[in-house]
Amino acid sequence: MKTGITSVLLLGAVTALPLKRSEISFLKSKTDDAVVFQLGNITYLANTKYPKATISLTGDRNFHAFSGGRTSFPITVVSSNTSSITQQSLSATIGSYASDDVWTPDFLESVYISSTVASPGMGSAALTYLASLNVTETFLDSALAGGRMPAATICNSLNSSVVPPGPYLAVLSDASLSLAPVYRLYEDTYRDFLFGTYESGDGSGNFTSADLALPNFGYPLIPVPSRLYYWNDPRPFAGFRVAIKDLFDIKGLVTSGGSQAWAYISSPANATAPSIQRILDLGGTFVGKYKLAQFASGANPWEWQDEHYPFNPRGDGWLTCSASSSGGGCSIAAYDWLDYAIGSDTGSSMRRPAAVSGTYGNRPSQGMITLDGVIPLGGATDTAGVFSRDPYKWAYFAKQWYTPSLHQSSNVTGLAALSVPDNDGFPKTILFPTDYLPLNNSAAEPILDALIANMSSLFGMTVKRFNFTATVQAAVNPAVNNIVALNNGPLGIINSYTQWEVIGKPLVTTWARLFDGRFPPIDSARRAGWRAYNETRNSFTAYNNALEQKNAAVEWYETYVQYSTADSCSESVMLYDIGTGGLPSYREQNLNNNPNASFLAITPKGAAVTGASICPLYGCADYTIPIGQVPYYSQVTYHTEMVPVTINMVVKRGCDFVLFNMIERLADAGVLKAVKTGTTAF
Ligand SMILES: *[C@@H]1O[C@H](CO)[C@@H](O)[C@H](O)[C@H]1NC(C)=O
Ligand SMILES: *[C@@H]1O[C@H](CO)[C@@H](O)[C@H](O)[C@H]1NC(C)=O
Ligand SMILES: *[C@@H]1O[C@H](CO)[C@@H](O)[C@H](O)[C@H]1NC(C)=O
Ligand SMILES: *[C@@H]1O[C@H](CO)[C@@H](O)[C@H](O)[C@H]1NC(C)=O
Ligand SMILES: *[C@@H]1O[C@H](CO)[C@@H](O)[C@H](O)[C@H]1NC(C)=O
Ligand SMILES: *[C@@H]1O[C@H](CO)[C@@H](O)[C@H](O)[C@H]1NC(C)=O
Ligand SMILES: *[C@@H]1O[C@H](CO)[C@@H](O)[C@H](O)[C@H]1NC(C)=O
Ligand SMILES: *[C@@H]1O[C@H](CO)[C@@H](O)[C@H](O)[C@H]1NC(C)=O
Ligand SMILES: *[C@@H]1O[C@H](CO)[C@@H](O)[C@H](O)[C@H]1NC(C)=O
Ligand SMILES: *[C@@H]1O[C@H](CO)[C@@H](O)[C@H](O)[C@H]1NC(C)=O
Ligand SMILES: *[C@@H]1O[C@H](CO)[C@@H](O)[C@H](O)[C@H]1NC(C)=O
Ligand SMILES: *[C@@H]1O[C@H](CO)[C@@H](O)[C@H](O)[C@H]1NC(C)=O
Repeated sequence: MKTGITSVLLLGAVTALPLKRSEISFLKSKTDDAVVFQLGNITYLANTKYPKATISLTGDRNFHAFSGGRTSFPITVVSSNTSSITQQSLSATIGSYASDDVWTPDFLESVYISSTVASPGMGSAALTYLASLNVTETFLDSALAGGRMPAATICNSLNSSVVPPGPYLAVLSDASLSLAPVYRLYEDTYRDFLFGTYESGDGSGNFTSADLALPNFGYPLIPVPSRLYYWNDPRPFAGFRVAIKDLFDIKGLVTSGGSQAWAYISSPANATAPSIQRILDLGGTFVGKYKLAQFASGANPWEWQDEHYPFNPRGDGWLTCSASSSGGGCSIAAYDWLDYAIGSDTGSSMRRPAAVSGTYGNRPSQGMITLDGVIPLGGATDTAGVFSRDPYKWAYFAKQWYTPSLHQSSNVTGLAALSVPDNDGFPKTILFPTDYLPLNNSAAEPILDALIANMSSLFGMTVKRFNFTATVQAAVNPAVNNIVALNNGPLGIINSYTQWEVIGKPLVTTWARLFDGRFPPIDSARRAGWRAYNETRNSFTAYNNALEQKNAAVEWYETYVQYSTADSCSESVMLYDIGTGGLPSYREQNLNNNPNASFLAITPKGAAVTGASICPLYGCADYTIPIGQVPYYSQVTYHTEMVPVTINMVVKRGCDFVLFNMIERLADAGVLKAVKTGTTAF
């Protein structure tokens, strides 16, 4: 998602810059030697501890004169790609930087000119042009200077892949200049993050916690790097800004799982989880760890104690963010400066947060990506997905991120090895489960009807109405025809065994040892279950039996409900709603005791389990898709507000990429659209 360059328009903007430039104002030095400063009305962090490069200055100019005795000042590294650097080429290059949200013309106090071309020529008119922009000092790569640039400071050559173009904080000492990367500090006004983070830059692959908050309300500040740093980076995710659920290890940071007690007994992660290391390898970066229901539970907003529940920008600003990956869906709905958020889904935790925030979010097929280095919930029901506002960007990310080398082994999933074709063998049938649809709010139903009509006409699909619950109950095999028993029995074991072994037991025993037999202070969602955990019932043998029972259910499902044919990876796509069917669900419990509002995770009358429980059992892929919005009268603002309407699309395990291809076609046809940030999705 590199920002496009419209140099013609922007050229005018740059040449018309006011010459009065904002003065830099230092706010604080952090204990880890990063500094925070203000420039114009924007606050920045500069990683002065580990600058991108330190270059020696040569020649006999008085370095301290130009900086007015200051040792730190803003600088723009300009990367030229022409063989002859002229006023026009510099003007076009600098003009193109205005599309970035981190760089501002205030960084033109000084300029370093580097070139991606060997021995380029540079005329003195170029320097005159910089002077006209009120650039106080120009630093020139010695390769460019040719020894005849009295108005500039000559430096050693910079490697432009080590020091990419963009805004920096220059730090002067003796005859050398350090270039510290800068991050714009965005306010997390919806309090969706635990803390911001940035690459330590020490060569270790560590990340550093920004630990910065605004006075008054204590909103975390999230450090966001300039997109210019990635302009010359050919990797597919170059410059993507990604938020990570605080369940995934990032090297150098403590993974809290949303629990201060767990954070207390844990050391910083010594490696980044392979699933999210892949995002770094593809060129993306992590800007913060976001809030989650403690230990990825399904706790309601009013059941959170250890963290302050995050806010949803939609509607009245008082709606639920749902449970486990709540900060992810809500931050994607809130902030244009954020591109993606990564979360996990065991029972609903990507899909329902996406539904209530009106964003795209997926539960992939079981086994799609390794969860090593991630606090587990159900070892064989956990999955990792991505939130996005844009159907194309969502599909692009997912199709690069999920890669066969990171598939989980059958030993983890208990299921057959995963095969993920990437073709246009779309479903032929739209399964319409009459026990889960229509939508609860009749005002939302026309939006779904239009979608179904659009899918039918675009792809020639036929709609098949069926009763999901009755279909399961009609199975001949007694091992698979009781979905309630499967959900409570084997899935119950799967969803508690791994987390107890890896997290619960070590926390409870360590806490008791440290604090005279005390039980750790944790939210109510896990307290009773861990207090009374029965290792005899939930044994390793029981766990492996549960995996076999789940596998039998998956094999039945892929034979009788959603199966492959010669033409289609998944012969059907099943629709249902994991959200509220177009009703508001508030973060405040009492407000949901109202026929015009809804709690979450309701099992519809006549259905045996929630719709959310289908894919955790059958291993299928389940995507939440925003399709519209309907009005409601808010019990908080006493004003009409809009609530998102979403639908879930389910396909057979392994058909994730085919479903993404279908979603791109729906977007091509204008049926699906990118959602906006803020109060309304559309
Ligand atoms: C040029 O910039 C300097 C430093 O920011 C400032 O003091 C000066 O007033 C500016 N000159 C003009 C003509 O704006
Ligand atoms: C910050 O300053 C810019 C340029 O002067 C202005 O366009 C923008 O509205 C200001 N933003 C805020 C939040 O004050
Ligand atoms: C040089 O950079 C400009 C913008 O900075 C870009 O539009 C152009 O494609 C680049 N040319 C080459 C040859 O890379
Ligand atoms: C520039 O740095 C990159 C990355 O470290 C390296 O691969 C490349 O060889 C360097 N180029 C030069 C000319 O030193
Ligand atoms: C990186 O983080 C790990 C874990 O906190 C720590 O042990 C290590 O010292 C850090 N490395 C550097 C170079 O700071
Ligand atoms: C990281 O820590 C784990 C224990 O928490 C240990 O088993 C592993 O060897 C360590 N890895 C590295 C690279 O230090
Ligand atoms: C998977 O294999 C590993 C190593 O072979 C083993 O330790 C683990 O117990 C197995 N997991 C299950 C669920 O059988
Ligand atoms: C989708 O359905 C709406 C409402 O029926 C209709 O207006 C629109 O033309 C359809 N779009 C496509 C691409 O079929
Ligand atoms: C634990 O489970 C076993 C096996 O189901 C059962 O016999 C035992 O009574 C349970 N223990 C407790 C304390 O409930
Ligand atoms: C539909 O909404 C009502 C509140 O109006 C709620 O009681 C009911 O549980 C909801 N049903 C479903 C299936 O969400
Ligand atoms: C629910 O909404 C309807 C229609 O807007 C309204 O007439 C009714 O008073 C509302 N009920 C409550 C309890 O707010
Ligand atoms: C679906 O089937 C179940 C089980 O037979 C039944 O209880 C329920 O009423 C049916 N629902 C609908 C909408 O037909």
